[in-house]
Amino acid sequence: DLDLASDAVWHKHAVSPTDRARLMQQTPRCIWLTGLSGSGKSTVANALDVALHSNGAKTFLLDGDNVRHGLNKDLGMTETDRAENIRRVGEVSKLMVDAGLIVICAFISPYQRDRQMVRSIFAPGQFLEVYLDTPLEVCEERDPKGLYKKAREGVIKQFTGVSDPYEAPEAAEVVIDTSKVNVEKAVKTVLNALA
Ligand code: PPS
Repeated sequence: DLDLASDAVWHKHAVSPTDRARLMQQTPRCIWLTGLSGSGKSTVANALDVALHSNGAKTFLLDGDNVRHGLNKDLGMTETDRAENIRRVGEVSKLMVDAGLIVICAFISPYQRDRQMVRSIFAPGQFLEVYLDTPLEVCEERDPKGLYKKAREGVIKQFTGVSDPYEAPEAAEVVIDTSKVNVEKAVKTVLNALA
């Protein structure tokens, strides 16, 4: 029988990722933002995207709320589905990095194991983990989408930080508490880490 998974030949492309990066005139990377809902992931990700883009960088932004409407609309919020969400996004961002882009990913990505898996598919130095270490109380106070309220009322089950775990990164390249620094400073901190 033909086993597609094991019989498939991995074709070495004639144009390598290094060739593509050279043409793009940049160092492709995956910048991975992790943190609670309301910690500032989307805000920092977008501001970072604007800063890089206006500086001529070829970027792309992958965001939980967006990806879950398309590629991952079949996935929910169980531990298994979150793992699959992160696995797919990790693989997509790896393809984009190999295409030469600087990819910014903003996902709660609450499990250490899933983030580690994504890190492991990149070359050393290609993956930059940014932990938005904003206190739960502040995230809950912001509650931009009213989700914490619904989670406390039990309307939303398995809500990260309330009724579902968030495993804080232990070795993120960058740690930012958005209750202490503004967006501009947060972006500068990430840009410094990139340089
Ligand atoms: S994960 O855990 O990484 O797979 O989540 P992610 O793809 O980033 O999606 C998070 C957004 O989904 C909304 N939402 C929830 N978040 C956490 N827990 C539960 N149960 C939940 N249900 C829906 C919420 O809007 C998250 O967006 P952000 O931008 O983080 O607030």
